[in-house]
Amino acid sequence: MEYGPAPESTKEAQAWLDQHGRSFGLFINNEWSAAGELFASINPADASKLADLTQATAGDVDRAVAAARAAQPGWQALGGHGRAKIMYALARLMQKHARLFAVLETLDNGKTIRETRDVDLPLVARHFYHHAGWAQLQAEEFADYRAVGVVGQIVPWNFPLLMLAWKIAPAMAAGNTIVFKPAEFTSLTAMLFAEICVQAGVPAGVVNIVTGDGRVGEAIVTHPGIDKLAFTGSTEVGRLIRQASAGSGKKLSLELGGKSPFIVFDDADLDAAVEGLVDSIWFNQGQVCCAGSRLLVQESVQEKFLAKLRARMDKLTLGSPLDKSMDIGALVDPIQQQRIAGLVDSARAEGCTVYQPACEIPANGAWYPPTLITGASTSAAVAQAEIFGPVLVAMSFRTPPEAVQLANNTVYGLAACVWTENISLALDMAPQIKAGVVWINTANQFDAACGFGGYRESGYGREGGREGMYEYMTALAEDARPAAPVQPEQGKAKAKATLATGGGFAIDRTAKLYIGGKQARPDGAYSRAINGVDGSFIAEVGEGNRKDIRNAVEAAHKAGGWSKATAHNRAQVLYYIAENLAARADEFAARIAAMTGDRNAEKEVQASIERLFYYAAWADKYDGLAHQPPMHGITVALNEPIGVIGIVCPNEAPLLGFISLVAPAIAVGNRVVVVPSEAHPLSATDLYQVFDTSDLPGGVVNIITGSADELARTLATHSDIDAVWRHDGSAAGCAEVERLSASSLKRTWVGGAKGRDWYSTAQAGGRAVLAHATQVKNIWIPYGV
Ligand code: NAI
Repeated sequence: MEYGPAPESTKEAQAWLDQHGRSFGLFINNEWSAAGELFASINPADASKLADLTQATAGDVDRAVAAARAAQPGWQALGGHGRAKIMYALARLMQKHARLFAVLETLDNGKTIRETRDVDLPLVARHFYHHAGWAQLQAEEFADYRAVGVVGQIVPWNFPLLMLAWKIAPAMAAGNTIVFKPAEFTSLTAMLFAEICVQAGVPAGVVNIVTGDGRVGEAIVTHPGIDKLAFTGSTEVGRLIRQASAGSGKKLSLELGGKSPFIVFDDADLDAAVEGLVDSIWFNQGQVCCAGSRLLVQESVQEKFLAKLRARMDKLTLGSPLDKSMDIGALVDPIQQQRIAGLVDSARAEGCTVYQPACEIPANGAWYPPTLITGASTSAAVAQAEIFGPVLVAMSFRTPPEAVQLANNTVYGLAACVWTENISLALDMAPQIKAGVVWINTANQFDAACGFGGYRESGYGREGGREGMYEYMTALAEDARPAAPVQPEQGKAKAKATLATGGGFAIDRTAKLYIGGKQARPDGAYSRAINGVDGSFIAEVGEGNRKDIRNAVEAAHKAGGWSKATAHNRAQVLYYIAENLAARADEFAARIAAMTGDRNAEKEVQASIERLFYYAAWADKYDGLAHQPPMHGITVALNEPIGVIGIVCPNEAPLLGFISLVAPAIAVGNRVVVVPSEAHPLSATDLYQVFDTSDLPGGVVNIITGSADELARTLATHSDIDAVWRHDGSAAGCAEVERLSASSLKRTWVGGAKGRDWYSTAQAGGRAVLAHATQVKNIWIPYGV
């Protein structure tokens, strides 16, 4: 049956544009500035001009930040209920004007009206409703947190209004004020949203919108008045933002690119999987960060599945996005079309088979037909690069382990789909796939209650749900941190230190490194002298170098079984370490006293034992959540270990600082490569024997002594380390770690120059610390269907 055209009217949207003279200034402090230097906003479906927008200047960004700063205390003081009422009003107004928003979005972006009307707008409203709820509950549910302050938010063009909602709703709910930049291709719905903010009673300065290209983004990123940055866009720009904000103390969340696998097993409902694939790769012309752009299909059903897929592709309709019967609309801009065509042409030239259904491509605008590529090697550009277009690359696998290996064979880790009727197989695959979101027998599902975000180079931080709220808050304990590292009380310890040096430890002993559960000589065969507080020599420690770190990382990777051990078992090992440390408490106290002159060294040992108990207690209690989105399913949000973490420990409290960082990391299943206090490393090297007698598997904790700066640099640039923590009080060192982490987009947790009271459980414990040691995976599972 053929359908006739069913165009959606653009009358209201055109009238709205006319009403604004088709020219927009900036929205700052609830006022529209006069238009400045202008650039055109084009309808990509027919290349017609829709309106002119203002390229904001650095001075405009300044004004926006100042307005946001001035408004923040008042917005906070409105309280949860005050903010909830305004956000609820926003949600209602978004619903009321949903059709106008949907048409405007389709005109501006080129995506089909079916999608803007049925997907984007309902999700936008749902986001504001859901987060109005978090505003209401904030004081109760996040009592130990406060708003971060002023947040800068930069979004791409693929879901202009939905990305706005994802960013602005949680920020507002938590009590922040906002400087928001839409993408230069698609700013119009943000302009309409600004008007809705005024109608909803959002106080002046709470939401400020500045338009323009990447230069405006840079001005936001580098502005000293911004406390937190949230970015969605390309991995390349994400990397630049990480570098540009290193050392600034700004909180950062990055939602970047992907090359997500869509895995079809031979027992899957193949017809349903084909429909899932349509939603996965041809939704929004494939301009979706979590698009299922790599089809991995089990060899035994490959031909059958691809035949069904080609037949389905033949039926996809491409044409005017305003036509309600169209499946595929326009790309955002001719520049994207050229990029996509270039990648597909290169695949063709390399001998791949390219299938495109015969469809009529409109004469004007930016278009690309649905495309299936077969015969590509796993390392081909089309199999590795984010194409961000309607292009699917298909490959086959034989066994589930091969599927896992192929699924994880990119630098990304945003999302994955698993299709099988075998629940055991699906739930066996989910934990093995490195991705922040896993959809089982479904695809591209999103909800305000569920966290979304990546692993690896797909970025960090989560948007949506409880986990997303934390991105816009600061733990109150952070405010209580001392201005400089806490120094131990020194004094009488001298006598004790001498006693310890002479009594407990052999003077000529050289502590080795600890790699893979064994003591290892440093590769360079150098060592450094460690002197006590009275200047007398205590012992030597190995001078670790790049090669030692490499060996330690290898050992840590081999100890992957630790991540799969039960939380109960990990807790047992931590308790056992505490028990063995307690048995040698006097010796450890004497050592601390000798190194630091701390007269309360016994207190530090006791606090370390307690901290081990504390994280042993948490090991099996840092549970995930089961979200209940409005679909026939549940979303299980699991806290997974990050992998291998490099840790640079503080100099103050050399034992307690070490334990306070290593214990939470390993409690949740990470393996660590630790650089102990550079000045006082012997408490860590004395732990080797404690570890050896505590059932800690080799490779879970690896210790490399030496120069903190040099070793931190190596940790931050090592491609097989997933996160780096640095807490030795070096502001420059912390900034360097953040900057260098950009190369492979490692997660970082740095203390900067500010100290931390390691004795305080509020500052060295709690969920905020465990969150640094984990990343949330949201697994969508059909349930109660
Ligand atoms: P982009 O990452 O350059 O742009 C995203 C946003 O960042 C825009 O608002 C832009 O103005 C801003 N921006 C650009 N340079 C900046 C800088 N130096 N500092 C701060 N902000 C900056 O993405 P673009 O150029 O629009 O698309 C290029 C490719 O990026 C796409 O083909 C696709 O592969 C990928 N992409 C991925 C997205 C995702 O959600 N994963 C979204 C958009 C693009």
